[in-house]
Amino acid sequence: MPKLSVTARDGSQYEIEGAEGLSVMEAIRDSGLDDLLALCGGCVSCATCHVYVDPAFAGRLPAMQDDESDMLDTSPHRNEMSRLSCQLPLSASLEGLALRIAPED
Ligand code: FES
Repeated sequence: MPKLSVTARDGSQYEIEGAEGLSVMEAIRDSGLDDLLALCGGCVSCATCHVYVDPAFAGRLPAMQDDESDMLDTSPHRNEMSRLSCQLPLSASLEGLALRIAPED
């Protein structure tokens, strides 16, 4: 199972893992870390799964679709590292993925 390095809003670091096929959001949520509300459950209709991904992994992530980008545009905290974690499927190629949970909007 791929391991992820997650920085919570308070700066705490967590090493979690999730099964391939889950989304990064589901892996974080299932780990018990409650920073990530993921209110819509992965339907791209909220931005409460917003994370900042380590740029070193940018090339391994799926391309951002228009609906994800539109939803991120609703966040004042969007930057060039922003992704919705529900749109990032876990796979072996993301082993060691480092990310930070974005501030709450
Ligand atoms: S959980 Fe709502 S957009 Fe990701």
